[in-house]
Amino acid sequence: MVELLPLSDIEPQAVETLLDAAFGPDRFGRTAYRIREGVDAVPALSFAAVEDGALIGTIQCWPVAHRAADGTATPLVMVGPVAVRPDIQRGGHGRALMAQMLAAAETQADSALMMIGDPEYYGRFFDFTADATGAWDVPGPYEKRRLLARAVNGHSLPTHAGMIGPR
Ligand SMILES: CC(C)(COP(=O)(O)OP(=O)(O)OC[C@H]1O[C@@H](n2cnc3c(N)ncnc32)[C@H](O)[C@@H]1OP(=O)(O)O)[C@@H](O)C(=O)NCCC(=O)NCCS
Repeated sequence: MVELLPLSDIEPQAVETLLDAAFGPDRFGRTAYRIREGVDAVPALSFAAVEDGALIGTIQCWPVAHRAADGTATPLVMVGPVAVRPDIQRGGHGRALMAQMLAAAETQADSALMMIGDPEYYGRFFDFTADATGAWDVPGPYEKRRLLARAVNGHSLPTHAGMIGPR
């Protein structure tokens, strides 16, 4: 049976091992890591999938912000990484982790959600789109079509130009 638990219940090294398996050990160079450099994950929006005591999936969310050239800052929550152990991908665990996070975000997110991810997955199942992000920038290489966002818990998205970075 698969249990969804707060990620804070899990040994941090087990999380790192799973992320290495899902993304490769060179994952730290990814633009997503620069966007949330130096901040701690949001405990209420970060979860683990555990099967028979073994960690099989994780989702983490981070406090970030959109900053316009005039200094105006809009808080956002960055979603991801979402990771499922490679040998059991495509078994519904990623969707279950995302659904758990979104249910928590509906009542607890302090701002709208953003992420870098495949619209074919996060759009198709979870209503993330690039509609609001065309004028946004991030600190590193990225594909515009993969810079996604979604309003949640009454928090709308900024659509003006701005840089996304740690909050
Ligand atoms: C992406 C990931 C989290 C999805 O979780 P999962 O448990 O493997 O997938 P699910 O069972 O929830 O969803 C399966 C469905 O999503 C589709 N899907 C999965 N990954 C996809 C992707 N990157 N793009 C498009 N569709 C995708 C599958 O085709 C499947 O669709 P189907 O039911 O019509 O066949 C997981 O595969 C993973 O950890 N991948 C490596 C790390 C990664 O790329 N993470 C995402 C970036 S933050």
